[in-house]
Amino acid sequence: MKHFQFLGQFLDNKQVGAVWPSSKYLIHQMIKPIDFSQAKLIIEYGPGTGNITRALLKKMRPDSKLIVFEINTNFMEALHKIEDKRLTIFNCPAEKAALVLAEHHLGAPDYVVSSLPLAIIPNNTVTRILSGSYAILKTGKAMIQFQYSPSTLGRFKRMFDRVEVKFAPINVPPALVYVCWKK
Ligand SMILES: C[S@@+](CC[C@H](N)C(=O)[O-])C[C@H]1O[C@@H](n2cnc3c(N)ncnc32)[C@H](O)[C@@H]1O
Repeated sequence: MKHFQFLGQFLDNKQVGAVWPSSKYLIHQMIKPIDFSQAKLIIEYGPGTGNITRALLKKMRPDSKLIVFEINTNFMEALHKIEDKRLTIFNCPAEKAALVLAEHHLGAPDYVVSSLPLAIIPNNTVTRILSGSYAILKTGKAMIQFQYSPSTLGRFKRMFDRVEVKFAPINVPPALVYVCWKK
């Protein structure tokens, strides 16, 4: 059902940027670089109906926090159905993450996990999202982003200290995963 809600939102709303939620294979590639034994704070951009959110919560420590930023109000109901005290949902753009973390005294995240459709987000907003994410991340930690084309890879390489690229072929469509480290 959630999958069809996702498809409906894609048809109604360009900002969704995908026809179908991420596959379990893509989700596996997205969460594999995370050291869950250490991570106390993870933030997620663009959770949609929450399939990556659930996978993160399954692996996270009981004393950790997950803060998600989603602009589409129609996905709020699905996200609020995830009953987990570690999860906080903000119906606001990823561009505001640094501000929200500061306002709520949440400290620096260990990981930023993003499925934002960067290819359809204006350039200056992408710059703000990437530079803001680099600035808030703890040293030695990473932003993990999937994309359907390599068009934004150069921007990640300029912004971050080291970028690894993984491939998730079993997904609609096949996706690239960038693991972008702050040294
Ligand atoms: C490709 S979908 C990914 C959904 C889900 N995480 C998945 O992997 O199946 C991208 C999501 O990013 C959200 N989004 C787009 N621009 C955003 C922004 N500036 N801030 C927060 N969320 C945004 C869309 O509404 C959509 O839910």
